[in-house]
Amino acid sequence: MAQIHIRNTGERLAGEAEVRDFLERQEVLYEHWDPEKLPESLQEKFNLTDEEKEEILRTYEEEIRSLAQRRGYVQWDIVSLSEETPNLDELLKKFENVHTHTEDEVRAITAGNGIFTIKGDEETGYFDVELSAGDVISVPENTPHFFTLMENRRVVAVRLFIDPSGWVAHPYQDPAFVKESSRMK
Ligand SMILES: [Fe+2]
Repeated sequence: MAQIHIRNTGERLAGEAEVRDFLERQEVLYEHWDPEKLPESLQEKFNLTDEEKEEILRTYEEEIRSLAQRRGYVQWDIVSLSEETPNLDELLKKFENVHTHTEDEVRAITAGNGIFTIKGDEETGYFDVELSAGDVISVPENTPHFFTLMENRRVVAVRLFIDPSGWVAHPYQDPAFVKESSRMK
């Protein structure tokens, strides 16, 4: 279940109703898939073969098709990151820059963890959404954000696209953004 950390106040939201309500107010889509549906052998596996990626997509086919039908996604794939990913540190450094897309950015976490840091409404400012297996999130189009890993540095996620060729990161310069969060460990 996702948890929220509001950077300006240090406030943390962990209750399901609270988290859902907060994300709804920030216009961030949040859903939950059953992480137990995944075969146990894939629940802790982060270096995946093409076959294993296909198996994950097959496991969640119903959930993917439902989301795609409701929101217009036409293509999906699996992305995985872990210590076994070549140049993980460089990749993360690249990811950790605030940017926007003209499409929404959808991720369904199927194993491991990830964080989306998102610019909320004026009153809220930047907040972190800490995700674990089963969490499905969509960062709205044109909303400043970035993605990073948590301390375990590993994640597997389904990505869904309306138009993969249009999914480009536009850097967003924001003097209000402070990179170091006061996140509690
Ligand atoms: Fe992005």
